[in-house]
Amino acid sequence: MKKRFETEVIHNSYQAEEHQGSLVPPLYQTSTFTFANAEQGENRFAGKEEGYIYSRLGNPTVKILEDKMAALENGEAALAFSSGMAAVSAVLMALTKTGDHILCSQGVYGCTFGLMELFKEKYGIGYDFSQMDSVETLENKILSNTACIYIETPSNPTMKLVDLEMVAKQKGIPVVVDNTFCSPYLQTPLTLGCDVVIHSATKYISGHGDVIAGMAVGRREFIGQVSKTTQKDIGGIISPFDAWLLLRGIKTLPVRMDRHSENAKHLFEYLKTHPKVDYIYYPGDPENKDYAIMKKQMKTPGGLISFSIKGTKETAQTFMNQLQLIKIAVSLGDAESLIQHPASMTHAVVPEEERRKMGIENTLLRLSVGLEAWEDIKEDLDQAFQNI
Ligand SMILES: Cc1ncc(COP(=O)(O)O)c(C=O)c1O
Repeated sequence: MKKRFETEVIHNSYQAEEHQGSLVPPLYQTSTFTFANAEQGENRFAGKEEGYIYSRLGNPTVKILEDKMAALENGEAALAFSSGMAAVSAVLMALTKTGDHILCSQGVYGCTFGLMELFKEKYGIGYDFSQMDSVETLENKILSNTACIYIETPSNPTMKLVDLEMVAKQKGIPVVVDNTFCSPYLQTPLTLGCDVVIHSATKYISGHGDVIAGMAVGRREFIGQVSKTTQKDIGGIISPFDAWLLLRGIKTLPVRMDRHSENAKHLFEYLKTHPKVDYIYYPGDPENKDYAIMKKQMKTPGGLISFSIKGTKETAQTFMNQLQLIKIAVSLGDAESLIQHPASMTHAVVPEEERRKMGIENTLLRLSVGLEAWEDIKEDLDQAFQNI
């Protein structure tokens, strides 16, 4: 019987008795697996006998991670990848072909935008961004060749939310959700009717800033198809060591997420009324138009805050340069608080006009609130504000 999330992150998908009693999952740091004889090799390749062949096709350490992530996201199966982008590209390539169309929520990670552009230019797969704020808007935007709906909620970095239950009712079109900002502790899109969940596991799943990795979770049949095609043949697999590090990180996911969220709440209250802050994007802001969606589908508002500094791009950069505790870096979900300037960093590939439409101004900063004492983070922000 499934236990509570905090217990599942530690115990699900691993039985020490099956691994010499090893408390921690063993690291199978091997590229290939030996066969007892030629016939066994033939049978494994033919799918007549279960067993490992070659680590691009499967690895026992990776499998423990995949099973655990599938369980945490309430999916049937999962696949681990070498990066979040490897997961995004493998899933989208499995779902689309030349002539198809992808309907995308407004505001996605810069490289996801880059990938859509690449698909359009090289493979004739079109895309459109849409607000996704009502059934009518969605129905108007879905074309006869729309092969999938792709959603980031909260969106990076503008924190716009999409009501997943509402979108999932669009029968017949697979709904893919990038759940990176939430992790399965805060939001489980599959339980709301969506079809595939993607993670940049580099972020909260790892939690320690030492791995680049991705995950995709969904129905067994679809995940099996990705595993045999766009993962196996394109080859964006995770290394066993990185899977092992993720298994270590995941055990503390709920504890970390609670702390990230709690810290972010305090910092939101501080930033919200700060005279040098123009506006703020945070799903836990009661004045945010998506607040009701947050309450409905997220456990807490999470650990990310974007805010716009009054002034110019230079003011925002000067502010960043004054920070001492908070590090200037892209990525998020680490123990360390990180700040970045989306317009010149994560979303620099998005043309300025498109960026503006997404709500990414040159004065916008994205803060990934870390696990430090929130008072110390606040003091660092405070001294930086005093120096601009
Ligand atoms: C929301 C989101 N999705 C996907 C990615 C890509 O993940 P990765 O850097 O692990 O390839 C990122 C990276 O920042 C992200 O923020």
